[in-house]
Amino acid sequence: MNVTTNTIRLNHQTVTFNHSERFIEGWYWLIPSHKVRNSQVKAVSILGRELVIYRGQNGKLACFDAYCPHMGAHLAKGKVEENGLRCCFHHWKFNSNGTCTEIPYLGKNIPIQLKNWHVAEKYGMVWIWTGDTPKQSLPLIPELEHETGNILSRKRNQNNESNWISYAYGDYFEVSCHPHIVMIHAIDSHHFNTNNKLSLELILNKKQINENVIVFSNISRSREDYFWGKLIHYFYKSVITYSICSWYGSTTIVTLGPDFLHFYIIFTLRLNAEGETEGCSLFVTKKRRGLFGWILNKFILWLTKMIDNYSSIYQSQIFEHINFNLKTPIKADHAILQFINYVEKQKTRSWGSWVIFEDTSRRVKKEEEKNMWSSKGEGTD
Ligand code: FES
Repeated sequence: MNVTTNTIRLNHQTVTFNHSERFIEGWYWLIPSHKVRNSQVKAVSILGRELVIYRGQNGKLACFDAYCPHMGAHLAKGKVEENGLRCCFHHWKFNSNGTCTEIPYLGKNIPIQLKNWHVAEKYGMVWIWTGDTPKQSLPLIPELEHETGNILSRKRNQNNESNWISYAYGDYFEVSCHPHIVMIHAIDSHHFNTNNKLSLELILNKKQINENVIVFSNISRSREDYFWGKLIHYFYKSVITYSICSWYGSTTIVTLGPDFLHFYIIFTLRLNAEGETEGCSLFVTKKRRGLFGWILNKFILWLTKMIDNYSSIYQSQIFEHINFNLKTPIKADHAILQFINYVEKQKTRSWGSWVIFEDTSRRVKKEEEKNMWSSKGEGTD
């Protein structure tokens, strides 16, 4: 990617960004936690794959491919027995690892294994890792984890989060464009500075936290050439926080507000069969104690929802009709190009099969680079 003073160019065609048949490997939202209670089983369809999820009597979740390996009955029609799942058709039983532990009337077991998937809970949501072994943390709000080092820690995620955060669910929504296009809305400083008529001129700085997480943070203060900007600046001198933390190119955490009060909105999106977006939002705040704290938590979550509603109304007007094509990027589109570049570096899987997608042109380029370096190495030995 080239960056010049006034213009920026993309040097390549995108392989993953805005592609309707591919998605980034990572954690994706599956179902709100309260919809899978103990001993309940549910069918879920995500990224072209049919799954079944249940919660055992011990409260632990298990998630498998949906169809029984015997004759294809949908396992969501089955029954949770203790901590296992029994198929409705011929009553084969599977444990929480997906191993078949009982075949009635056969008198012995045969080695049958369901494909199971890693699931975990955070912010009142069940998340699924779309690869083999989770390599990174669940999406989380860095600031609420107290220190940046916790971003890579899975230990914290296992603690009881209800002791230290409050959250509320937003609405499920669908948008007629790819999730990546919805995501760049949050970092499109150009449109914030024009359409939204904010008294804040956004200038976003990028920071890559790890290979899957990228953060864009505002570094500018409120403008003084607007009435509201002047008023804000009179009472509040510091930079207004506007920070976007993107996980796996599909979950965006927006942190917004002055130093003394930050609002947290999580937009988490998935690619549907039409190559468009299905998503939901979550609102999170630090838990405050006592009756006053409880009221304040509720008020802040309500206010966060109002901010989200305003953003959603505006967003729907643009994205219902967009035919995204960044033909003429300018310097103000810098963050968008950085986001595209970040998406292109992610591990990609195919929609439906979840098989790893490997771009042969990228592989050939990598091999050429490797050969170049090894031949240089031979010369210096
Ligand atoms: S189809 Fe499930 S046990 Fe036969």
